[in-house]
Amino acid sequence: MAATAKPAILVARAVFPEVIDALRQHFEVDTNDDDVALTPDELTQRLQGKVGVLTTGSERVDAALLAACPQLRIAANIAVGFNNFDVPAMTAAGVLGTNTPDVLTETTADFGFALIMATARRLTESEHFLRAGQWNKWALDMFAGADVHGSTLGILGMGRIGQAIARRGALGFGMKVIYHNRSRLDAGIETELRARYVSRDQLLQQADHLILVLPYSAESHHAIGAAEIARMKPTATLVNIARGGIVDDAALAAALRDRRIAAAGLDVFEGEPKVHPDLLTVPNVVLTPHIASATLATRRAMAQLAADNVIAYLTEGRALTPLNPDVIRA
Ligand code: DGY
Repeated sequence: MAATAKPAILVARAVFPEVIDALRQHFEVDTNDDDVALTPDELTQRLQGKVGVLTTGSERVDAALLAACPQLRIAANIAVGFNNFDVPAMTAAGVLGTNTPDVLTETTADFGFALIMATARRLTESEHFLRAGQWNKWALDMFAGADVHGSTLGILGMGRIGQAIARRGALGFGMKVIYHNRSRLDAGIETELRARYVSRDQLLQQADHLILVLPYSAESHHAIGAAEIARMKPTATLVNIARGGIVDDAALAAALRDRRIAAAGLDVFEGEPKVHPDLLTVPNVVLTPHIASATLATRRAMAQLAADNVIAYLTEGRALTPLNPDVIRA
């Protein structure tokens, strides 16, 4: 008897070989070994006849793609953020979306803290100075920055990652933690985190170090622009590990140039991998290429969770971290 053909899926970006091997036990797997991000047209072409896809933030799954790929049943994002998915359109098309929460929380919080420290203590600025051979004498005020310990940490967005950052700030660095979020945390969690809920305006005005950890949406587009920066202390620092587009990068670059705030640390950018040219010319900003969750262990866990979602859904009709579970119930 002829063996039944395995269902076909696409892994849209290069991932770890062991993850591909696990998928190959169940599916015909089309891979993108060159790891060049596919254009929307290329993605549509590559998805013809495929029932599943593993995506990253570079691939959009929207109504146009769904209409052109009627066989698609699941898109598994290798990311906790899923602003590249039009979830209502996916639900309408009966396509399940999944993301990768939890497995990256602590790693991403570590990096958020690394950026807070690097920004406050002028790490990259001073390293560039040294590498450029400009260090010829020590001085008392050389690269004097702002203290992190004992200062006020402001967190905008208090989901899992925001809470993990709050814990580090309060328990590790003795910081006063204030936060703003769409919904306030339970009193018990606030007590455990030693975090105080404040209005958005109070957050902007009181934070010595403000970190953004909220999801990107039409609502959060340019949540931090010139007007918000003007509310911040001139000594404050701003860190964005959430998504490009939450900060108005042009307004931030101008504010940094004019020293309206002390410094910024950015892991995400509007239109990345392009970076606003003005950000490249101001010294008081630490810039990293969207690597907050990038440890090998965590990136492996993210890819494996996405693969596990695809395997569980296409072989057993269940998913581990569904974004639109109504699709499963339907
Ligand atoms: C995430 O998981 O959302 C990270 O930003 C990687 O895209």
